[in-house]
Amino acid sequence: MKKLLAMVLAAVMALSVVGMATAEEKPLKVGVCIYRFDDDFMTLYRTELQKYLEETYGAEVTVVDGKNDQTEQTNQINSFIAEGVDVLIVNLVQSTAASAVTELAKAADIPVVYINREPSETDMAAWEGKIAYVGADARQSGTMQGQIVYDREDHGDLNGNGTVDYVMIVGDPENVDAQYRTEYSIKCLTDNGVAVNKLFEQRGDWDRAKGQELAATALAQFGDQIDVIFCNNDAMALGAYQAIVSAGRKVNKDILLLGVDALDECQEMVANGEMTGTVLNDHIGQSHKAADVAAEAAKGEAIDAYYWVDYQMIK
Ligand code: BGC
Repeated sequence: MKKLLAMVLAAVMALSVVGMATAEEKPLKVGVCIYRFDDDFMTLYRTELQKYLEETYGAEVTVVDGKNDQTEQTNQINSFIAEGVDVLIVNLVQSTAASAVTELAKAADIPVVYINREPSETDMAAWEGKIAYVGADARQSGTMQGQIVYDREDHGDLNGNGTVDYVMIVGDPENVDAQYRTEYSIKCLTDNGVAVNKLFEQRGDWDRAKGQELAATALAQFGDQIDVIFCNNDAMALGAYQAIVSAGRKVNKDILLLGVDALDECQEMVANGEMTGTVLNDHIGQSHKAADVAAEAAKGEAIDAYYWVDYQMIK
């Protein structure tokens, strides 16, 4: 009898070990698509995302570089689907590709968490409970940029001519982050009764070198007329800073410089007075939320369509 009991016990234990092993053999498989690896902000984001997914969920994570090419990214999504990932986290190259990506994922019943580049509302309604957007409301970041300027005693009119004469260095205009930051930074000033005058507006594709080039062009063209250079992100503001120094201008003394993201380098520059202000684009909060939502979706739970993470003013 004792022997039988021991045998049964051993069998139960063996089975449970097998059970555990199977559970361990099947970690959460996550396919992460980034629009382009060579982007300062998305580099911080993807590094934190991978680390958090591995540490918190023991996930098996593959992160791929879309090289700013939607066709390439769609191929990568197809490969992830063929491999049978449990969930996709996608930073689209083109926000408008969302509907096609959702269709591919839906056909394979693989949920998708979109990050950083917000698809349209219609696209977000295409597969309820199975797709989500995790991001920050870019209107808020634009408004905060404007608020930093407005909060100064001169409200940004450094040369005292009665208007805030500004230069706008835009990210990628296809992306709502660029559209809203461009619009709301200025809206905040005009809503507060400040007169504005746009001297120059061009796309810099979120890129540092292009930011420098455009700021140099604007400074050569408009010189001392410029009160403020607004950049849709910090990478371009870092470029613009170089152009400002080369032009012999001094930030906060005779020109203002604003960015978004709060890269470490820019936070230091704000503290040293080399940049007027920036806005924290919380890559930690956003990546953790994206990972948590992806893990929920992979378990088969219904997810919400939107998850928002707040920006924060740095001045
Ligand atoms: C960030 C930019 C980044 C872009 C990529 C924005 O939210 O502020 O720095 O280049 O996302 O899509």
